[in-house]
Amino acid sequence: MKNILVIGSTGQIGSELTMKLRANYNASSVVAGYIKGAEPTGRLAESGPHEEVDITNAQQIAAVVDKYKIDTIYNLAALLSAVAERKPQLAWHIGIDGLLNVLEIAREKHCAVFTPSSIGSFGPNAPKDGTPQDTIQQPKTIYGVTKVTGELLSNYYFERFGVDTRSVRFPGLISYVTPPGGGTTDYAVDIYYYAVRGEKFKCPIAPGTFMDMMYMPDALRAAIEIMEADPEKLHHRNSFNIAAMSFDPEIIYQSIKQVIPDFEMEYEIDPLRQAIAESWPNSLDDTCARMEWGWEHRYDLQVMTADMIDKLRRKFATNQQA
Ligand code: SER
Repeated sequence: MKNILVIGSTGQIGSELTMKLRANYNASSVVAGYIKGAEPTGRLAESGPHEEVDITNAQQIAAVVDKYKIDTIYNLAALLSAVAERKPQLAWHIGIDGLLNVLEIAREKHCAVFTPSSIGSFGPNAPKDGTPQDTIQQPKTIYGVTKVTGELLSNYYFERFGVDTRSVRFPGLISYVTPPGGGTTDYAVDIYYYAVRGEKFKCPIAPGTFMDMMYMPDALRAAIEIMEADPEKLHHRNSFNIAAMSFDPEIIYQSIKQVIPDFEMEYEIDPLRQAIAESWPNSLDDTCARMEWGWEHRYDLQVMTADMIDKLRRKFATNQQA
């Protein structure tokens, strides 16, 4: 990876991944692609080049790829699951029409492509516990439908045209930097904000609903390591199960209470997100990622909770001073 374009650089993953790529490689060679209305600000804007790149506009993508001699594209443009359910046509347009634009440009201009998939690519017919790498993928959400289609299309471009496409199936991602917005797993981010602010949390997901989750530093490392992996060792490409921890709302609540004993939570179930969560796996089996490219998570729930609370306390203290 020499010259990198991040499409969706101001989103949940992009805002942190762009900064990590700039730290790992040459900052001036990592282009932050954004859409109108979501322009980069602060360090993201100052630390390297940024260009308007709407994934639904193939000419715009091609022009930026040419201008910066891009060889690797991180395609992070997407709607998260609950928002996608409200705007299914837009979710398809961005997720699949957009991906096709990226893959075609990658074919013509010889770029590698990373496009994240998700635990949402599985549906109720897949085994719930220890969901295997290769199993039934019949999602019931438009988010999942776009993710499975994206996996198949990316594999097709690799096998048919030799485009170096790679991907991981992300769990719910937890971070203190950029809030997600519209995902089913977002409750596991929101809960920390309420706890640190000393407010009671209304949990939209029912007790006993298990989903895979991951701390953002692990997720960023996965996105970089998969693109750096030795292609000879990859039997799979789109997309690898990766996992770090699986919990339900009660378990994360208890882990926060160990640090903030008077934190309170009650349940106010959101039927849309609850139905989505119930159709997803409880926990993925990520053996293939561990064997084929050495995937290893570093953060478990306890370590993540300690770090999230510490970082959010500092963030709120800085905001109050400002
Ligand atoms: N975090 C995503 C969502 O909840 C799942 O990949 O939509």
